[in-house]
Amino acid sequence: MTHTAFSSFVSRRVQSVKLSPVAAATAQAAALAGEGRSIITLTSGEPDFDTPEAIKDAAIFALKQGDTKYTATAGTAALRNAIVAKYSKENNISLKTDHVIVSNGGKQVIYQALNATLNDSDQVIIPAPYWPSFPDMVKINGGVPVLIQGRASEGFKITAARLEQAITQHTKWLILNSPNNPTGAVYSISELKQLAEVLRRHPHVLILWDEMYEHIWFTDEAPVHFLHVAPDLKERTLLVNGASKTYAMTGWRIGWGAGPEGLIRAMGVVQSQVSSGANSFAQAATVAALNGVASDFVEIARLTYQKRASQVIEGLSRIPGLKVIRPEGSFFVYVNCEDLIGSLRPDGGQIQTDQDLVDWLLESQGVAVVAGTAYGLSPYFRLSFAASDQDLQQAILRIERARLQLTLSEVVVA
Ligand SMILES: Cc1ncc(COP(=O)(O)O)c(C=O)c1O
Repeated sequence: MTHTAFSSFVSRRVQSVKLSPVAAATAQAAALAGEGRSIITLTSGEPDFDTPEAIKDAAIFALKQGDTKYTATAGTAALRNAIVAKYSKENNISLKTDHVIVSNGGKQVIYQALNATLNDSDQVIIPAPYWPSFPDMVKINGGVPVLIQGRASEGFKITAARLEQAITQHTKWLILNSPNNPTGAVYSISELKQLAEVLRRHPHVLILWDEMYEHIWFTDEAPVHFLHVAPDLKERTLLVNGASKTYAMTGWRIGWGAGPEGLIRAMGVVQSQVSSGANSFAQAATVAALNGVASDFVEIARLTYQKRASQVIEGLSRIPGLKVIRPEGSFFVYVNCEDLIGSLRPDGGQIQTDQDLVDWLLESQGVAVVAGTAYGLSPYFRLSFAASDQDLQQAILRIERARLQLTLSEVVVA
């Protein structure tokens, strides 16, 4: 049976979402590279570094010790305790082991949080631009994403007034992601204080604080933690974090959620039917990571991303037609390309959308980035600088060349 013929069997919930656009863009780039084209792929949301050796050694040691069995669904006691210790040491937040669940990546944590709490038509407020999985996970779990459109003039962050307007009696969650994928925005103390003020007036709203890029920041001080600004909201806040970005462990699939015990317990019920405990030796390796076997790596990686952010910003701002806001964290820059919309390619085709521009960059110069449509704010594209200095330098030159081949519409009209 063809994929189209089968579609009548696919549930409405699953039909309401698409395959990850980032995965699609990465696959398209890989296919062209497979044909022998020189492609620079800046689509991916993962560190280009390898996992530090000391973390790998901890996994090997665990394997050799026979750490190869099912673990408790919510994670090993050793890892959950290490996560509690991490929050106490790094964030000055006190938690109990029962407040923590370990899953196959932060992605599963978020999925389970929504699955465990959403009834049909419950609303989830998501600031755009967003990580594409947020709205899709809401839809697949029967909820309704309520988007607050970010404004470049506000650094792509939502304000208290706009949050207040978006909350209804059906709101179940607000999702905040700082440092942000795809914009690199980081909420300041005063911005979070104002949002917390609004949230205090609406006790039926849960807060999902996605801090996956916690350790990748370029500001003078580390990003502010939501629970420092609003410790009184701890009883309705879920922290989502993991090993993927901080320790270059995307393939190991270890993420965690920390929040109110009742929520963590409900998420554990879901996990017990979906996957059970996460990989045993990956959990052992994450204990070593959290205990600091690779603490040098975390700081070196951060400084490297910071240097690349400057390199990329400097390069892109020299290209007429592109506008960039300096990211304060994560490893992405969200590039405004509105001045290139309406321009003409050498073959006469018109660049009508950010996707057209992204296609042009790939076709003409072999640079793969992801169109803003995937993140809910156009016309933009996301460029990941989790790539080598050399690749980034080459990519900027190629984007400049691709841009020079376009004729701006004003020129055409004149
Ligand atoms: C904002 C954000 N949250 C969560 C995740 C999930 O990461 P993982 O499932 O690898 O832990 C990602 C990964 O790209 C992300 O960008």
